Amino acid sequence: MGRVLVCIPTYDEAVTLPSTLARLRAAVPMADVLVLDDASPDGTGEIADRIATDDPAVHVLHRPGKAGLGAAYVAGFGWGLEQGYDVFVEMDADGSHQPEELPRLLAALRDADVVLGSRWVDGGEVRNWPVSRLLISRVGNAYTRLALGLSLGDATGGYRAYRREVLEKLSLADVASQGYCFQVDVVWQAVRAGFRVREVPITFVERTEGYSKMSRAIVGEALLRVTRWGMAARFERLGTRR
Ligand code: GDD
Ligand code: MN
Repeated sequence: MGRVLVCIPTYDEAVTLPSTLARLRAAVPMADVLVLDDASPDGTGEIADRIATDDPAVHVLHRPGKAGLGAAYVAGFGWGLEQGYDVFVEMDADGSHQPEELPRLLAALRDADVVLGSRWVDGGEVRNWPVSRLLISRVGNAYTRLALGLSLGDATGGYRAYRREVLEKLSLADVASQGYCFQVDVVWQAVRAGFRVREVPITFVERTEGYSKMSRAIVGEALLRVTRWGMAARFERLGTRR
């Protein structure tokens, strides 16, 4: 398996981060952790620093200001590639992605290059989401399948594992997407590069503390970009058919 780095983006997660880190370190002690904090006003960055002082497996990357989930991951992957990690994991700080499920994601990476923790496959589940969020996710995924021709149940999810080779190959610097569109962006690039993508069911548990950073702008961005990628792919196919 090699060395594993779990990347956790944070913005105002002072309340949720400590328990998530504790659960993660207990569930998968062999994995290192990189917290990617965007100068959270609530002091998440300092809390992460304090935890890192006591635990050499925990690292913190401080970024100057809120620049979106995607930009934080790109920076984290870059750091991890430089440090020589072999496997990269994406995980939310708020407890929605249960650290206890990570061993199953990592096991699935044995015969895949990308493993998606999936809410919308058999055995997958979402707990405590309002109908509005369920709808956005279901409709968003259905639209993504249609526009991009991807046969994935959950292309927008944020609990994942990648082999190093995938992140080396993709043009991460070009990933401009901010919100959950970043997730679609990476999996779309990975599929087109010929990497093996596998889905494993997860139980997503909505946070009980703190607040979601999902916004209308983030949904709008995803809709726009997915539509654009889908159209570009159709034109490409037309061009090669001739
Ligand atoms: N560094 C940084 N910068 N972190 C951020 C930012 C940002 O601008 N925005 C959000 N985060 C962090 C949060 O602190 C949290 O750890 C994680 O990203 C997920 O953010 P949430 O705000 O909790 O997202 P959500 O629960 O509404 O959305 C979930 O479902 C989406 C798809 O339905 C997440 O798992 C998304 O990744 C996923 O795409
Ligand atoms: Mn959340």
